[in-house]
Amino acid sequence: MWFVRAPTSRRSFLAALLVVVVLAGACAGQAPEVPLGPDGSPDAELVVGREVYQRRCANCHGADGGGGTGPKLADGAVVVQYPDPAEHRAVIAEGRNAMPSFSGSLSTDEIDAVVRYTREVLG
Ligand code: HEC
Repeated sequence: MWFVRAPTSRRSFLAALLVVVVLAGACAGQAPEVPLGPDGSPDAELVVGREVYQRRCANCHGADGGGGTGPKLADGAVVVQYPDPAEHRAVIAEGRNAMPSFSGSLSTDEIDAVVRYTREVLG
């Protein structure tokens, strides 16, 4: 009956809209995926780096490294600032001003991984 079908389709339209909005929101909060290598799988260290970045850094530096409470890291910003990855690494391990020190809560492997992820995936 027409008077039953109209509200039903409006409801499913709203439900579909809600799904789209929720998915878009979730995607906006995700750090960029690690691209697949020549062998068809992503670099394992970069995958660890992404996970660390997402969990520990994105809230201040932005999911895509575009900046927030902390400065922009992406689009070459950090590579220009720290041509030597060892200096980049030192900021993360030791902290500076409002940037927390991570040497107590991340392993050296995790710090190495997030340095590579920042330089190679965030760019
Ligand atoms: C509580 C917020 C916060 C968190 C969490 C945080 N940072 Fe920072 N970060 C900052 C701030 C603020 C600065 C600027 C420090 C300064 O020089 O005054 C900064 C600076 C940096 C810099 C140097 C940037 C430059 O231009 O000199 C790097 C690299 C960096 N952070 C990486 C990371 C990584 C990697 C993580 C996660 C492991 C992380 N940060 C987590 C706030 C944060």
